[in-house]
Amino acid sequence: MKIAVVGTGYVGLVTGVTLSEIGHCVTCIDIDQTKVEKMKKGISPIYEPGLEELMKRNIRENNLFFTTNHREGFKDAEVIYIAVGTPEKKDGSADLSFIEEVAINIAQNINRNVIVVTKSTVPVGTNYHIEKIIKQNLVNDIKFDIVSNPEFLREGSAVFDAFNGDRIVIGADNNKAAQIIEEVNNNYGIPVFKTDIKSAEMIKYASNAFLATKISFINEISNICERLGADIEGVAQGMGLDNRIGSQFLNAGIGYGGSCFPKDTKALIQIAGNVDYEFELLKGVVKVNQKQQRILIEKLEQRFGELGNKVIGVLGLAFKPNTDDMREAPSIVIIKELLNKGAIVKVYDPIAIESAKKVLEPGVNYATSVDETLYKSDAVLILTEWDEFKEIDLSLFKQLMNQPIVVDGRNCFDLKGALENDIEYYSIGRKEINRKSEELESLSNSIR
Ligand code: UDX
Repeated sequence: MKIAVVGTGYVGLVTGVTLSEIGHCVTCIDIDQTKVEKMKKGISPIYEPGLEELMKRNIRENNLFFTTNHREGFKDAEVIYIAVGTPEKKDGSADLSFIEEVAINIAQNINRNVIVVTKSTVPVGTNYHIEKIIKQNLVNDIKFDIVSNPEFLREGSAVFDAFNGDRIVIGADNNKAAQIIEEVNNNYGIPVFKTDIKSAEMIKYASNAFLATKISFINEISNICERLGADIEGVAQGMGLDNRIGSQFLNAGIGYGGSCFPKDTKALIQIAGNVDYEFELLKGVVKVNQKQQRILIEKLEQRFGELGNKVIGVLGLAFKPNTDDMREAPSIVIIKELLNKGAIVKVYDPIAIESAKKVLEPGVNYATSVDETLYKSDAVLILTEWDEFKEIDLSLFKQLMNQPIVVDGRNCFDLKGALENDIEYYSIGRKEINRKSEELESLSNSIR
């Protein structure tokens, strides 16, 4: 089929590239000329494992094209995907201006009957709003249908998810349109769930809100475990063995970040509010997440008292591993607070340094390796569970740091390893290892 995809962010680009991989002829449209020139050469504007390989192959085989010109992109398209951003507005609601712009563009440029598929995460009812805008602005005498087809891919494993997702949700009021979109997706080999438009829109928000709830829930349990002397890893494992609960998304840490959970949870609170419903549970989830992002600062302060002039190394900046995405990364909040408290901050991330430089406060020192980050640091924080960090030779902490204090927000190491390597180790929802107090330390220094 001939398909156009508008917007080449994570969702749009992965959608376009993988649709070309399963046999469609796809044109991706974006207003950013420089980005489009790069993509034409098979260079991905985002770091996403496996994506460039698929881009290059499908460009070579003439299945995948890029343009800034809507008319050219829409020419003869049987299906148009809308995959532009819906950023968060100041009040937490979703900004639909990009979506509305695309709807007008579609209305002005389509030259044949077409199905318009919304991939972007949009508040319940937006697909009807899109339908209305297209109808009002239509130039040619053609028919179109609207289909909601929310995206569930995870950054860092988006290509894998596209071919291995649990379900494809298709929301439509017209059975024929739903059937055609089901056929478009056939070669992904993923089960399809068909429903009405509003329910499909809600499935996306409800799924993300539920996963965010799971994370805030396990984070609170971890805080209680710490106080009681239980171990969150064992607790989560034991809970996850119950199929009704499931083992995924029970990793306690420093809270969720990224382009979806923070934005979508707040948007759903707004959506509920608009129909006079207070989503109390979800408000709690958001609050817990904000609190959890500060948990490592609390641990540092409990250990050091004042953080002024302490050299704090930070391992990991991206909101999760295998991505360079810094959107809503807990590292932003944590680093800002460290600087406010007068700490000297030295940071490292295997991939996200360049994107971090655009969003982190000035005054941060950028290291180029784990060793450089550890060298002469008073404490090291782990904020992203990159494999590179999980595989660190634990003896390095003692060798390189002023004192081997590790405050791990992602539970990267086992407690036995920390104990054996003489690391003073603080993690999430687990026992403290080799804890020393600041007073004890200054006392022993003065005796020496
Ligand atoms: C998420 C959804 O998983 C995906 O379906 C949706 O389409 C977009 O939002 P993504 O934001 O890419 O995907 O990452 P995900 O792997 O879900 O992680 C989100 C955040 O939750 C990260 O900050 C991660 O560190 C955190 N998280 C995740 C936890 O703290 N604990 C967990 O157990 C899982």
